[in-house]
Amino acid sequence: MNPGLAVEAVTIRYARALAAVDGVSFELAAGGALGLIGESGCGKSSLARAILGLVPLAGGSIHWRGQRIDQLGQRAWRGLRRELQLVFQDPFACLDPRLTIGASIAEPLRALLPELSSGARQDRVLRLLGEVGLTAGLAARYPHQASGGQLQRAAIARALATDPQLLVCDEPVSALDAALQAQVVSLLARIRGERGLATLFISHNLAILARICDRVLVMYLGRIVEQASCRQLLAAPLHPYSRLLLDAVPAPDPGWWRRSRTLFQGAAGIPGSAIETAPGCAFAGRCPQRLERCERESPALQPVGDARLVACHRAAEWPGGL
Ligand SMILES: Nc1ncnc2c1ncn2[C@@H]1O[C@H](COP(=O)(O)OP(=O)(O)OP(=O)(O)O)[C@@H](O)[C@H]1O
Ligand SMILES: [Mg+2]
Repeated sequence: MNPGLAVEAVTIRYARALAAVDGVSFELAAGGALGLIGESGCGKSSLARAILGLVPLAGGSIHWRGQRIDQLGQRAWRGLRRELQLVFQDPFACLDPRLTIGASIAEPLRALLPELSSGARQDRVLRLLGEVGLTAGLAARYPHQASGGQLQRAAIARALATDPQLLVCDEPVSALDAALQAQVVSLLARIRGERGLATLFISHNLAILARICDRVLVMYLGRIVEQASCRQLLAAPLHPYSRLLLDAVPAPDPGWWRRSRTLFQGAAGIPGSAIETAPGCAFAGRCPQRLERCERESPALQPVGDARLVACHRAAEWPGGL
């Protein structure tokens, strides 16, 4: 069996009637890299936090290496914290402004590996700084004395401190400018490869995801609408929402792309809300290709073509969908 992460029919609700995440399932093999893409508010961070045990599930289950982890108590989570780590968009979310950067990186070691001597802890902090491309001198500085790129590298070092096996990266480069994004993405790609880290990487940007991940999940209003390889999705997104999301990405067949762009004129619309999801396809209100059936029946995520899943009644009709 797959010894990595197994997310099964996960539902998350903040308010009684609305599901922020609605029946999401996927698997991430140990050492694999999976991307998660979708517009603001579709439930990406909620899912990330649920995997780390920070948000309770309203339904479904999460297993890590065969062990069910969504119902564990605080004590059991302490043991797992070493293995599962989260990198946030905002490094200030994990770097305490009152602590030096070195002390922040040492903190999870202190909490989760108390058997380490203070010398061993210091050595490990210096090694981690080197691994993320920072100089030892940065350890003595406070967060306000470092640049955004340095801080995000320090946040990555902190997440790596306990030698995790799964890294959930929630838009780790979205707050950086383009040049820094490229640097930090290369860094993450290198570290992932060297450490054999399983990675769930959340981003708004498919080009960034493609640097790190082989496969990607497209999420719309709490549901997965397409699962494909980055290459497949870049070449020919199948779900109408995926196509809308990738509108700016050039396609190999310009003719088809022109046709599909015409298809989408007027489709941008206002993002739907969770209230609109019942009973048909959640995207129907924005989809110019909707059929009457789409308003009644929610499409299931099903295999289309080669190693790809799409939740659209018309997926098989699009180019590349046969
Ligand atoms: N703590 C909370 N309490 C109530 N509602 C919440 C809470 N956190 C998130 N939500 C709601 O759940 C939905 C999903 O939010 P989430 O933060 O998971 O989206 P996201 O895909 O990460 O968005 P972004 O790209 O903006 O980070 C949104 O409608 C949001 O308003
Ligand atoms: Mg988010």
